[in-house]
Amino acid sequence: MSAFDWVTQLLYVASATCFVLGLHLMNSPATARRGNQVSTAGMILAVATTLALVAHAGTVTTTGWIVMIAGALLGGGAGLYAARTVEMTAMPQLVSIFNAVGGGAAALVAIDDYVRLASGGVAESTTITTILDVLIGAVTFSGSIIAAGKLQGLIGGAPITFPGSRAVNIAAAAVAAGGAIYMIATPSVVVLIIIIAAALTFGVTMVLPIGGADMPVVISLLNAFTGTAVAMAGFVIGNWALIIAGALVGASGGILTKLMADAMNRSIRNIIVGGFGTGDSGPAVEGPGGDVRSIAADDAAIQLAYAQKVIIVPGYGLAAAQAQHQVAELARVLEERGVEVSYAIHPVAGRMPGHMNVLLAEANVPYPQLKEMDEINPEFARTDVALVIGANDVTNPAARRPGNPVSGMPILDVDQAKSIIVIKRSMGHGYAGIDNELYADPKTSMFFSDAKGALTELTAAVKTLVA
Ligand code: TAP
Repeated sequence: MSAFDWVTQLLYVASATCFVLGLHLMNSPATARRGNQVSTAGMILAVATTLALVAHAGTVTTTGWIVMIAGALLGGGAGLYAARTVEMTAMPQLVSIFNAVGGGAAALVAIDDYVRLASGGVAESTTITTILDVLIGAVTFSGSIIAAGKLQGLIGGAPITFPGSRAVNIAAAAVAAGGAIYMIATPSVVVLIIIIAAALTFGVTMVLPIGGADMPVVISLLNAFTGTAVAMAGFVIGNWALIIAGALVGASGGILTKLMADAMNRSIRNIIVGGFGTGDSGPAVEGPGGDVRSIAADDAAIQLAYAQKVIIVPGYGLAAAQAQHQVAELARVLEERGVEVSYAIHPVAGRMPGHMNVLLAEANVPYPQLKEMDEINPEFARTDVALVIGANDVTNPAARRPGNPVSGMPILDVDQAKSIIVIKRSMGHGYAGIDNELYADPKTSMFFSDAKGALTELTAAVKTLVA
């Protein structure tokens, strides 16, 4: 091995170390930003090392370099712009587009490798990793584009099926798997094209029947697929930095998918086969059995201002209303009055992992005030007011009974608080599409309003009281 090879291998070790370290730092919100920076440094190092390797080999023509640099500038610029301008609530679809790009690129690496070897007369045999790379990459590419389209509202969020859709799905899977086995025994460009077409079809027919609100779990699964495809691409071209990066993404995406499914008390199979998630709540519908009591800002403000302990329960509606700054301001005003304020964070509140943490961090809510479900649940019983803002399913006591879509889902024990105020616009359902029994609880008062407006009104009313 030449000195140059030694140095490049060492640089790859350094970049892989950055990936592992970066992932580790993401364990805590306090170090997550640094984790991101360390991982970015690892990626820059890996790209620079690869460019040095390519330049050293001298196999790329001037046109090749122009194409590579233009592609990197265009792709990097588009990625940077998208990441900087994306709304917090649109993050899942952005991740999905990144998955599509990653999976597609990984598949292209294998396709290019095969076609290059075949045109040189070398591809008498092909490897399992090449085939897996093409298969997983193509499924991820088309599946992620459909997922992003559904979340962005470009394709209907409800499960989409058409006559024979399941048969098409099974046929696509069978053709892709059969073609892959045939290809390993008898390599052929025609069979490769058939495999790609079948895998792309499978990706589409796998994601179309899944409800829009289940999509974050599916996106996490597709993210794990992207990592696996990238690791396969690493095997194909013999680049082990790619293998390590891909394996890390594949493993962490797989674990995250499992955690999300567990927190919703659903199996991954149940989500893929189709479930109750059909997107966000619709217009007002009939309420839960029993009377529902509504409250105005002034009365709610009195309860909050004279409380000793308030727990704020944020949910998807807070994110949809972009009311994070307003809730932080209300908490600040209450704390100035000596009220003890904390936030109850349910693991699947909102529409993506860590949604509430990221949202509240944006408004500079101190991390120690954010309490995980297990930590905060025992505190509800000695809480004067639980202020639920745009959270629905994660507070529904129906989860404690069998026989409904949220059965078994761990919930925040909001109903244990002495008094409960719920801010939402109507009696509309949450993601699970069912009534919330909490609203008919005699201790509950409903403040029907958009979260941002309601919080602004509440803060003003508390300030007036204080004055
Ligand atoms: P949801 O149960 O979805 O309820 C959100 C509520 O917010 C709705 O009932 C809606 O009622 C209200 N809302 C919407 N816009 C609002 C606005 N501008 N102002 C005030 N309220 C507004 O939310 P959740 O309690 O956060 O639960 C999350 C659900 O998503 C769970 O069922 C979970 O399983 C599912 N899910 C989560 C994830 C992750 S990883 N977080 C992934 C997939 C699925 P109105 O229309 O009446 O206002």
